[in-house]
Amino acid sequence: MKKTVIQGTGRYLPEWLVTNDDLSKMMDTSDEWIKQRTGIEQRYWVPEHLEIGPSDLGAEAAWIALEKAGWKPDDIDLIIFATLSPDLFFPGSGCLLQHKLGLTTTPALDIRQQCSGFFYGLATADAFIKSGQANRILFVGAEIHSRGLDKSTEGRDVTVIFGDGGGAICLEGVETDESVGILASVLHAQGEFARNLMIEAPTFRHSPYIDEELLRQGRHWPKMDGRAVFKHAVKRLPEVAAEVLEKAGLKIQDIDLVIPHQANLRINQAFMKAMDIDPNKLVSNIHKYGNTTAASIPIALDETIEDGRIKKGDTILFLGLGAGLTWGGILYRF
Ligand code: UT7
Repeated sequence: MKKTVIQGTGRYLPEWLVTNDDLSKMMDTSDEWIKQRTGIEQRYWVPEHLEIGPSDLGAEAAWIALEKAGWKPDDIDLIIFATLSPDLFFPGSGCLLQHKLGLTTTPALDIRQQCSGFFYGLATADAFIKSGQANRILFVGAEIHSRGLDKSTEGRDVTVIFGDGGGAICLEGVETDESVGILASVLHAQGEFARNLMIEAPTFRHSPYIDEELLRQGRHWPKMDGRAVFKHAVKRLPEVAAEVLEKAGLKIQDIDLVIPHQANLRINQAFMKAMDIDPNKLVSNIHKYGNTTAASIPIALDETIEDGRIKKGDTILFLGLGAGLTWGGILYRF
């Protein structure tokens, strides 16, 4: 039977290192507040003078993933690009990435599921592979948050959290009887809470879709009810973990590593405690990169493989929640 397996991963972080102390020079915040509430110590932002977009960060990560997989761009049957900070309002960043990789007519699909882009993207890739519509898929998650953050004190609750970055994963359908690859995936959304975390403008609900009034009201900046999102996360993550384990016929004890979306260290620690999983099994890099949304799990996965922390046969639980609200879980065996 065909299994969806990871053949290569890559990551790319832009060069501008922004520490918590750097942020405290832009707004009323402190290293202590940010570290204690989120675990974040620094993040990377794209230098302001560079006119580049997430498709450029994604392309850098993609070249590395392709090389590790031993693929040429021509080997790709489908590109799936997840981002909430696209290069253009439309078309999607997947099309721009396709051209940057030197491809001419390879299909490209954008995923607009924010922090859950990894789950929606990999579940889609798995479905395309298992239905025979594509066999080699490049998944990319990339974000440039820094250009869309309110760097005044007013925006501090959101701005201190987010970092820029890109991650890429080469996925391939492989015929094998071994229990490897994507074992199970679970996706959820709850639009009831769409306004808990959003950027509202430009908006086609308003005529014209952008004007000085919208800008004056700050409706082009991200808005988050942090406490509400936090509460949803600590409730939904254990639920989705139990659901995906049941779907795969596995138990908590079967999990060798947990690679969660990197939104807040406290959320991920609360999850480990709620599920009674050894805290040493948690992969965390939020202190270095902040929250890179669709890029966070691909970056963490690439680092974890590079560090030699994953052995053949290991079972990994990926999970996370974010804007939408959307959330998901994936079990994967190497
Ligand atoms: O990946 C996307 C999904 N997003 C998330 O998962 C985010 C989930 N939520 C969180 O991570 C947390 O809610 C935050 C880190 C965003 C905020 O932490 P909190 O413990 O929920 O703080 P709070 O929003 O309740 O604010 C506490 C205080 C407030 O002051 P008062 O009203 O108590 O005087 C805020 O104004 O902290 C203040 N505050 C800050 N102070 C210094 C908010 N942001 C900052 C800041 N620096 N950056």
